[in-house]
This record gives sequence, C-alpha cells and structure tokens, in this order.
Amino acid sequence: MGKDVINVALLGLGTVGTGVYKVMKQQEPEMPEKLNTVLKIKKILVRNLEKAAKKVEDTSVLTNDWKEIVQDESIDIVIEVMGGLEPAGTYIKEALLAGKSVVTANKDLIAVRGGELLDTAQENHVDLMFEASVAGGIPIIGPLKDSLSANYISEVMGIVNGTTNFILSKMTEEGMDYYQALTAATQLGYAEADPTADVEGYDAGRKIAIMASIAFHSRVTFEDVYTEGITQITAKDIAYARELGWVIKLLGVAKNTAEGVEARVHPMLIPKEHPLATVSGSYNAVFVHGDAVDDVMFYGRGAGEMPTASAVMGDVFAAAKNIVNRSGGFTRCGCYKKLPIKKIDDIISRYFLRMEVENKPGVLATVASVLGNNSVSIAQVSQTSKQGDSAEIVVVTDHVRECHLKDALLTFQKMSMVKSVSALIRVYG
Ligand code: NAP
Ligand code: HSE
Repeated sequence: MGKDVINVALLGLGTVGTGVYKVMKQQEPEMPEKLNTVLKIKKILVRNLEKAAKKVEDTSVLTNDWKEIVQDESIDIVIEVMGGLEPAGTYIKEALLAGKSVVTANKDLIAVRGGELLDTAQENHVDLMFEASVAGGIPIIGPLKDSLSANYISEVMGIVNGTTNFILSKMTEEGMDYYQALTAATQLGYAEADPTADVEGYDAGRKIAIMASIAFHSRVTFEDVYTEGITQITAKDIAYARELGWVIKLLGVAKNTAEGVEARVHPMLIPKEHPLATVSGSYNAVFVHGDAVDDVMFYGRGAGEMPTASAVMGDVFAAAKNIVNRSGGFTRCGCYKKLPIKKIDDIISRYFLRMEVENKPGVLATVASVLGNNSVSIAQVSQTSKQGDSAEIVVVTDHVRECHLKDALLTFQKMSMVKSVSALIRVYG
C-alpha cells in the first residue's frame, strides 16, 4: 500500500497560493508520519514567471503552460488557487478527467458548477474538495458533509465575508472611512481580486449557495441567492444602530422552510449582545441548527493568506490519504433532493427604515397609515432630526412579509411628502 511521494501542482501563486507554498514547506518534516507519504510541489502555474521567481526556492517548478501539468501523469493532486470562472473551470475539469484529485478555494466556480464538477470527480474516482471556498480557515464544509450529516439541518447562518466584516468593524469601532477600510482589507489579502464581489455581497452569496446545497441536500446556485452588499451603509446608519443597541453586520442566511429554501445575503441590524455582534475584523462565524445537534457555532479567521492555506492544505492532506489508501476518492455530490427556492418577497423580517420627509404636521401620521394599509405593523417610530423644511424619521417594523413592505415603499415613492427612503435594513430576530 501507499506511495513514497505524491506530486502536487499549484495553480496560482497569489495570496492563498503563497500561503499554501509556505504551509507545504512547514509541514514537510511531519508528512511521513502524518500521511504515510511526502507531498512534493512538482509544478506551479503562474502568469508572470519573473514575479513568481521571487517567491519560490526552486524556480524550475514554475511554468505558464497548463499542458505541462495536465499531461504529467506523475502529478496526482492539483491545487487551484487562481480564482475566477475561467480558465480555472476548464483546468479543474481537465484535471479531474485526467484522474487527478483537485483541491480548490474557488467559491465563484463551486457556487455555479459545483454539482457538475463533483459528478466528474466521482466518475473519475478522484476527489474534488473545497473547504477553503467558505469562511477561509474555518472548517465548515467538512462538518456539514460529515460530522453533522446525521442531522436534518434547518438553518445555516452567519458572517461569511472577511472583507465586509473588516470594513464594517473599522467603520463602527474606529470611525474609519469606508474606502480607507476597503484599501486596508485589500492590502491584508482579504479582498477578492475585484472587491466588488465582497462589498456587493456576491462572495458571501456564493458561500451561502455552497453551504445551503450541502446542508439541505438540494442544489442551490449563486443565482438562487438574493444579495445586497454594504455599499449603501453610511456612518449615520451605524450611529443610529448604536443608539438603538444594535450593530450592522453583513449576514448570510440559508433556511430550509416549508415554503422552500431561503438563501440571502444582506446587511442586518443585530443586538450588540448577540454573539455575532462581537465577531470583528476578518473573523467569520457560522451558526448551524440541526434537529439532533441543536445549535453549533463555528468561529475563526474567514480570510487571509495563512488561514485559507490551512483549509486548502487540510483538503490536500485528505486527498493524499485517499491516494495512499487507494480509496479512489470519496467526494460526491450529495444533492439528492430538489427543493424549491423561496422568493425574497416572501421572507418575513423586521425592518429599520430611515426616511427624509417634509417637515409639516400630519406627515408622521400619513407614513404610519401607509404602512398600516399595507399590513406593515410598526414597532417603533421617532422623528430624529429637523432641518428647514425636512425632517428625518426612523421606523422599526414588527415582523412583516417583505412584499408588503415593498408595496408601502412604492406608495411612498409617489408621495411628495416623502422625499427619500435613505436606509432600509433588515433587523435580526
Ligand atoms: P490572488 O492574490 O489574486 O491570487 C491569484 C493568483 O492566480 C495571482 O497570482 C494570479 O496571477 C494567478 N492567476 C490568475 N489567473 C491565472 C492564470 N490563468 N494562470 C496562472 N496564474 C493565474 O487571489 P487569492 O486571494 O490568492 O485568491 C485565490 C482564490 O482563493 C480565489 O478563488 C479566492 O476567491 C479564493 N479565496 C481567497 C481567500 C483570501 O483570503 N484571499 C480566502 C478564501 C478563498 P497574477 O498575479 O499575474 O494576477
Ligand atoms: N474575499 C473573501 C473574504 C476571502 O473577504 O471573505 C475569503 O473567502
């Protein structure tokens, strides 16, 4: 049994790729005992050979020709950390078809083509693993697939984007400006190559799609997830939230309900005493509710070079053990159900509304009656400031169906006494 050496190829030598390279070197002395084999990086695919040469001990491993990797039969495991849909998708597919196990951190791809690629892995008796695609260093895919697999999971929820959590934390705790915080997150290696994916909630949406698919055994793709980012959140909203005893977090929510799967990402006001309120900086936290286990919470670094490399390398070690034990790969698509997706209009939530209205008698009463006529019950309302002919009012609703709130907003749009709805943020609980 076994193999003295398992050859590995690394695709991409950016933030995560560099971390993987370092962990591979750090772990080398332990490998014979830990894995009953030794992993060797045989090739690293890069775009710019000169730039990459500064990062490796032996430059002969560098290549910019994918064929040198896919056609090399001695390479057993391919680690994809380039990102993006293409050419990463093609390379992963070709690697699996060539009988190589693949480990990837690529949520963009898994959230769209996960099912198809898992089928390809299964057909070719190799592994496709993607622990690092969700919540950086936190082990969550493994627990959902294995440790919690004897549960009916009804909810997976949490903070799953390090960049936005870092930005919101800096804005809340240090009064930092949004763009300053985004620049810092990029420099620290948390943000995606195009940070739009982070700040618009797409990255968290991809992670929610991946976790929901595994947790509910039904394929949820990125396009099934409703996404809203943090670009509309202002210092004023953060200040109001603080006054009301809340903090603003970008939350991902996946629920398996009688009406279908709810999958959404948006900013949310959460009580400052809630455990998620204290998850700060690049840390992530994921709550899972299962019928047998009850509540479980996972917490740790959600982004960055070394935490993400930890997750990637855990998968590489697992794939290596399967090769050593000749188990022929054990990952397969677990989506054996076809659950409907619930529309965002049908979700029930509480809402925080900040509105600029005309500063004259009767406006507050009219706003309240529009909400009431649309079945939106008010929990709290206050006029917060007056300036000339304008006043600002803040409304917190009871639990209402989102479509009812949207109907009320449509009515406000047609009313001259409502100048704007400056903020609309869902409230936790
Ligand atoms: P990155 O720093 O931008 O690194 C990507 C690297 O891949 C770059 O060096 C890039 O080369 C290289 N690359 C891109 N296309 C290539 C191609 N066609 N051929 C060869 N090399 C290519 O990104 P990253 O932060 O390491 O992220 C990599 C992956 O991990 C992404 O899927 C990301 O979503 C995921 N991830 C990242 C984190 C994190 O904290 N950063 C956490 C979890 C998951 P150039 O330098 O020439 O552009
Ligand atoms: N850009 C991602 C984040 C990286 O900020 O969470 C980890 O997936």
